[in-house]
Amino acid sequence: MTMLILYAVAFKLFFACHVLSQDTCRILEFIEPEADSYLEHHVIQSTLVDDNDQCEINCYVERMCLSFNFGMLGPGNKFTCELSDSDHYQHPGDLVSKKGFSYHPTAKLCGGLACPHAASCLPNQQGNLRCVCPGHWPKITNCERGFLFHWTLNGSDPLVSLHNGASHKTADGRTVLYLDGNQRSYAETPAIPIQKISFSLLCWVKVLSLPGHPIHIYSDWSTPHQFRLAIMELYGSSRLCVDLRRSDSQSKTIVYFCDGDITIGEWMHVAATWSRENRVGKLYINGTKTGQQTALGPQDSLDLNPSGHTVFDIGLKRDSMVKAPCMDT
Ligand SMILES: *[C@@H]1O[C@H](CO)[C@@H](O)[C@H](O)[C@H]1NC(C)=O
Ligand SMILES: *[C@@H]1O[C@H](CO)[C@@H](O)[C@H](O)[C@H]1NC(C)=O
Repeated sequence: MTMLILYAVAFKLFFACHVLSQDTCRILEFIEPEADSYLEHHVIQSTLVDDNDQCEINCYVERMCLSFNFGMLGPGNKFTCELSDSDHYQHPGDLVSKKGFSYHPTAKLCGGLACPHAASCLPNQQGNLRCVCPGHWPKITNCERGFLFHWTLNGSDPLVSLHNGASHKTADGRTVLYLDGNQRSYAETPAIPIQKISFSLLCWVKVLSLPGHPIHIYSDWSTPHQFRLAIMELYGSSRLCVDLRRSDSQSKTIVYFCDGDITIGEWMHVAATWSRENRVGKLYINGTKTGQQTALGPQDSLDLNPSGHTVFDIGLKRDSMVKAPCMDT
């Protein structure tokens, strides 16, 4: 059985370039779909999409979504994506047989365990799922203590640290993380074990003005480089880019491409997904796919570079951070 793990990081930044967002992050894991099945009576949104991944992203973006019906190729080479605000756990009688549709529930369990409220479901190094509770929680049954891996970036995240002038500000009625455009102003989160899994990085950003250097929205980007979701200037326009590096030093890139224009002064939901199963990376802006790339290089080497770094960065291209001059002793 293949399990797609949707691994989510939500941020609100504000890059004054700046960014960030609104809702709290939602973690959804899509489990094995059921062929020729359809959940009736709970559809809250119906759209046409290019593929299954796009329907999953739509489900993520729609806060009420708990499952979706995916319909076979129709007019214009599009698929039907119907989001539902319930699932077959709550309404077993509404799951009916229907040719041409598959039903895609999200996981209720995590590696067979029911996670405590607010716990996250994360794979360990062996790929087994387990519930992870925030590090400061007391020890609870069914829960390993870990770290938060989604952040609201509004000042309530104990594991996010701010550096060199990064601050929280009120924007559009919310408290968000604000980076002032200085190349050295950034925030740090604990590193997350994404090396051997499929994952998605998602965040809300609002770019107030372009700083004249690449904006690394979220990255582990210093030697040995692992990954970056970034905004870069290409041929006179700013594009969303994703760059994943592998451990194989002969051919370092797994995927690296830029697609989708950045709009200045508007909140944008940006997402990068990586599917190991399909060996494809994709980029989305506001739920619409802007581009994709199949993994380059050896097929049997899809692990991200084990950088050994203990932190990931929001807003920092760490390899170009100028070191403070050494003091002579
Ligand atoms: C930050 O977001 C969380 C979750 O939405 C909310 O409970 C909390 O009150 C917010 N804190 C601030 C300072 O806005
Ligand atoms: C993305 O969605 C947000 C919120 O719905 C909207 O305000 C913004 O204009 C959209 N941006 C783009 C580039 O479509």
